[in-house]
Amino acid sequence: MLELVGIGRRYRVDGGEVRALADIDLVLPKGSFTALVGRSGCGKTTLLRILAGLESPSEGEIRRPAQAGPLRIGVVFQEARLMPWLDVRGNVGFGLHGRLPRHETAARCTAALDLVGLSAFAGAMPGQLSGGMAQRVAIARALVLEPEVLLLDEPFAALDAFTRRAMQNELVGIWQRRKPTVVFVTHDVEEAVLLGERVLEMQAGRIVGRENIELPYPRDPTAPEANRYRRTILARLMADPAAARPEPAALS
Ligand SMILES: Nc1ncnc2c1ncn2[C@@H]1O[C@H](COP(=O)(O)OP(=O)(O)OP(=O)(O)O)[C@@H](O)[C@H]1O
Ligand SMILES: [Mg+2]
Repeated sequence: MLELVGIGRRYRVDGGEVRALADIDLVLPKGSFTALVGRSGCGKTTLLRILAGLESPSEGEIRRPAQAGPLRIGVVFQEARLMPWLDVRGNVGFGLHGRLPRHETAARCTAALDLVGLSAFAGAMPGQLSGGMAQRVAIARALVLEPEVLLLDEPFAALDAFTRRAMQNELVGIWQRRKPTVVFVTHDVEEAVLLGERVLEMQAGRIVGRENIELPYPRDPTAPEANRYRRTILARLMADPAAARPEPAALS
């Protein structure tokens, strides 16, 4: 459904050049769930931003099938980024404002809030929410667009372990019900194996490994099979020569 061909992205930084992405070839089948895993600075967010159309590649192209309208893409960032002056319902419906009749916007917001379990908080203000609830609002805000493509950038990284697990299960449930094409960015191999139909391993701007996770949902992260996948992926990521070098940040 979506195909990246030879995608690269360079940035000019301090007179030099940073190669954030290089030679990315990737097919995202319609309705698939792809987890993208790699250490800090390997280019995950850049790739997601290019997929979202928030940034253009320096090389390569994104191919999508010819269709009537533009692809509906929902994005969830690492932080909820809610508008503090709007209540939960206002935040969720913001992207639909002026695009749909008011009653339809209201119905979609109600359904999206229901999906993330926040119906009772529709009138709450962002300042009254916990971090996990705010992130659920951000997910509802993406879902309300009825996205064909759902892009998530470490959406649960800031959450406690209990909330994270609950949210992971919710996300899998939403994906199974609605079947958007999901790309989920994480630096947590366990989370990648728990969620992805396949896991793509990134290293220094490149995709260096791919693993199909052939485990049924809902998955048990403590199952020996899950553990085996985790070990395989980690071993590959750590064995890459680039991984052996300390990060510049670690030196200072
Ligand atoms: N707007 C920008 N200008 C200059 N360099 C950038 C820009 N955005 C990203 N980069 C560089 O591109 C590389 C990849 O960054 P990116 O944010 O994609 O990494 P990441 O894998 O998402 O890391 P993290 O896990 O820490 O979020 C980094 O070296 C970063 O410094
Ligand atoms: Mg990032």
